[in-house]
Amino acid sequence: MILVLLGPPGAGKGTQGERLAAALSVPRIATGDVLRAAVRDGTPLGLKAKAAMDRGDLVPDSVILGIMKDALSAPEAAGGAILDGVVRTVPQAEGLEQTLADIGRRVDGVLLFEVEDEELVRRLSGRTVCDTCQTPFTGREPGSRCDKCGGQLVQRKDDDPEAVRHRLAVYREQTAPVIAWYRDSDTQLVAIDAVGEVAEVEARALAAVRSLDGRQTGS
Ligand code: AP5
Repeated sequence: MILVLLGPPGAGKGTQGERLAAALSVPRIATGDVLRAAVRDGTPLGLKAKAAMDRGDLVPDSVILGIMKDALSAPEAAGGAILDGVVRTVPQAEGLEQTLADIGRRVDGVLLFEVEDEELVRRLSGRTVCDTCQTPFTGREPGSRCDKCGGQLVQRKDDDPEAVRHRLAVYREQTAPVIAWYRDSDTQLVAIDAVGEVAEVEARALAAVRSLDGRQTGS
């Protein structure tokens, strides 16, 4: 199953993407994680993306389409994938559709995580992430150790208040039209109330996935 996760910064795409990937036994592909790892390792991709990411701007569609193609053609993605933040512009949605059509596949559903701006700002101002495995944490100090891999927890540059405001504006301008694009397509989009305990949101997301399954199997 190929699922696209949409939603504003801080909506919990990464948190829920991990859980959905485990529940469905498919990999989670997150362009943000791929780009941050490239920045950390100083690769040509990272050098190209760093300034835009630090400001909270999107990196160019051509860069994302390259990452998307590589990740989806990898053997690990043969059984499907959770695409976390991979689609943020209409050209990226069109590019994904074409990339999948080329390999005889399609997006099975889109999950839209909805959270009000005030809550997003609150979440992002309190977030640290592991600089190795990128797991997000709340209420943990920078410099402490990741429970999952022992890496160091850091604050993301794009989580400073000015960059967060800019990312929210970019989301409204460039990513919100993707929601309308999917609603006009024959791909099913399900909106999920993403406020509440992480486990509650996960239960809603899994129910949404089952509703997609039901539609596909006609059950
Ligand atoms: P990316 O890393 O994808 O950032 P984002 O979309 O802004 O999303 P976040 O990672 O900030 O939030 P999230 O929704 O994953 O929430 P999380 O689970 O961490 O992208 C970064 C940058 O890379 C972009 O700005 C852009 O420059 C570039 N980029 C990436 N993809 C691109 C693309 N396709 N095109 C162009 N550029 C691209 O949760 C947030 C916090 O809330 C955490 O602390 C978490 O613990 C907490 N939390 C989660 N769920 C809950 C809950 N239910 N209740 C309370 N707290 C919660």
